[in-house]
Amino acid sequence: MKEEVQSAVLQWYKKHKRDLPWRHTHDPYHILVSEVMLQQTQVARVIEKYHEFLRAFPTVQDLADASTASVITVWKGLGYNRRALFLQKAAQAVIEQHGGIFPSDLESLKALPGIGDYTARAVMSFAFKKQVPMMDTNHRRIYNRVYFGVDSQKDDVLLKKAEEMFPKRSAYNWNQALMDIGSQFCTSRNPKCESCPLKRYCRATPAILTYIPPIKKKKKTIPFKQTDRYFRGRIIDMLREQKKVSKQSIITRFSQIPKARVVKILLILEKDGLIKTAKRSIVLP
Ligand code: ADE
Repeated sequence: MKEEVQSAVLQWYKKHKRDLPWRHTHDPYHILVSEVMLQQTQVARVIEKYHEFLRAFPTVQDLADASTASVITVWKGLGYNRRALFLQKAAQAVIEQHGGIFPSDLESLKALPGIGDYTARAVMSFAFKKQVPMMDTNHRRIYNRVYFGVDSQKDDVLLKKAEEMFPKRSAYNWNQALMDIGSQFCTSRNPKCESCPLKRYCRATPAILTYIPPIKKKKKTIPFKQTDRYFRGRIIDMLREQKKVSKQSIITRFSQIPKARVVKILLILEKDGLIKTAKRSIVLP
């Protein structure tokens, strides 16, 4: 079963893998940039921004030395701007603590700012070709469904299973393949088990194929344009355009929400390190 699953995954990947720019490099800096971008942004958008970001900051030294304002400015369009700050802090740590040479072991990578277990393993696997499994949302779903069925298991259980099941000489292809299988077949909603290369080996397939989903009542979600995250993004966008913006003009621009809420959002942006206050105005750091 183990070898069958391995060869089903690797053979499928050989034929059908997506041609993605970060699959043409083993440069740990490039891999890190791509993985941080991919954490919360769709592949199509990341493809455009990945090239632009690396043109602006071609090396880890360039990113470490850049003004934070310029890093936030180039990050435009990716959302979750705090990732840009962490990425730059990680670059600075690579320069200051590792003499500009990326570490390749799990512990040192996880000690870099903003790098968790997943990203550390992605750098180990995709840059250094270390034989380690990894656990992003795609891997998690596949390991869970294939080996345990429809009941959700905890990450430590899944990682233990992954250690046991991944092909020890082909971790790179295996880890990349699970990304593709997860996004094309093993999706969280409406998985395409019928055409999935793991259909024959997957414990969840029979249940998923016979399961008739209940008619769901529409959940009330707050429209994006009314969330703090939306306003945070628009305020950073204003600074990307104008460098310096008065607090009053922000309050006026967002007159649809209470002034106290705008003030609170500005305070949190400052606490996060995404803006600096200069008298009655704000600027990028
Ligand atoms: N999502 C996160 N990492 C990825 C990768 N290397 N390829 C495709 N999608 C991803």
